[in-house]
Amino acid sequence: MASNNNIKVTKATASKIGAVDFKNLEFGKYFTDHMLVADYADGKWGEPEVVPYAPICVDPSISAIHYGQSIFEGIKAYRMDDGRTAIFRPKDNYLRFNKSARRIEMPEVPERLFMNGMKKLLEVDNQWIPKEYDHAMYIRPFMFSTETTMRVAPSSSYKFIIICSPVGPYYSAPMKIHVEETFVRAVPGGVGFTKTSGNYAASLHPTAVAKEKGYDQVLWTDAVEHKYVQECGTMNVFFVIDGKAVTPDLLNGTILEGVTRNSVIQVLKDMGKGVEERAISIDELVEAYQKGKLTEAFGTGTAATISKISLLGYKDFIMNFDPEVMPWADEIKAKLTAIKEGEAPDSHEWIVYVD
Ligand SMILES: Cc1ncc(COP(=O)(O)O)c(C=O)c1O
Repeated sequence: MASNNNIKVTKATASKIGAVDFKNLEFGKYFTDHMLVADYADGKWGEPEVVPYAPICVDPSISAIHYGQSIFEGIKAYRMDDGRTAIFRPKDNYLRFNKSARRIEMPEVPERLFMNGMKKLLEVDNQWIPKEYDHAMYIRPFMFSTETTMRVAPSSSYKFIIICSPVGPYYSAPMKIHVEETFVRAVPGGVGFTKTSGNYAASLHPTAVAKEKGYDQVLWTDAVEHKYVQECGTMNVFFVIDGKAVTPDLLNGTILEGVTRNSVIQVLKDMGKGVEERAISIDELVEAYQKGKLTEAFGTGTAATISKISLLGYKDFIMNFDPEVMPWADEIKAKLTAIKEGEAPDSHEWIVYVD
């Protein structure tokens, strides 16, 4: 497997960068000039290459399209004040990527391919990494099956690709969340803990139904009793109850183990705040709200870091939260942003430098 330095690079003949308005970067709209590609066949990974970003030609019968053997990750890299490029916790995403791969019977991607490929791509498209405060490069590694077959079986061949998209500050208006009791996202023994593409396809209709009712997203509940809360859309969820942060535990594999979730738990511990990972029932939330003990609710994820919840609707019961009075959410976001952008010490070694 190639090291970072000897990955073959074929440069694009012209850059698209001039057409990009870096002051108005819409999430996921622009892609850089290059991508990293590696193919798996005959039981082994081939050499990765950085090539010009371009459409890929695939056969209509590839099994990824029909049976959904497809996984992805989402990571951010930042431009530090000294000009270096810093990637936030990529090893965690690498480990989660292979957890997803194993669950849907795909080959694992070697660490050197994933990490060195990502670093090489960031080196080649270095001038695309935004310099402005709170801007970042969103990195999207993904893998899909490429065998041409109608059989429902693990593919014998796969493509691993990394693409990058410069992104601006993620302004998210406080969210209105519907506690979902009809549709389910994940069941024990299923694929809820993975980032397999089908999880996201299955969430589109329930989210559309919630949007028709005036909500932004759903808060999933457990598939058996619709009693315990799980996570929101593309975010894990935290509540502040009685001066302690609580988030659903991961025990039965129905929740994605968010890298931001883990970072928030650590930051809370570093701040000396109480934090618990445990089952949280909707009844507990309603009761705490009625007693004035549920004071904050927010989602956590790579895109937004922390996204405040202003309204939580459960059946006909509406819980309102004032986004202007969420000191825990504000403090956590400030602490995490400072670490990511090099303004606070990286005491947990979360940052990986490209150069
Ligand atoms: C379903 C789901 N939950 C939670 C998250 C948050 O995970 P992370 O903090 O690793 O971005 C994501 C985003 O990847 C997600 O898709």
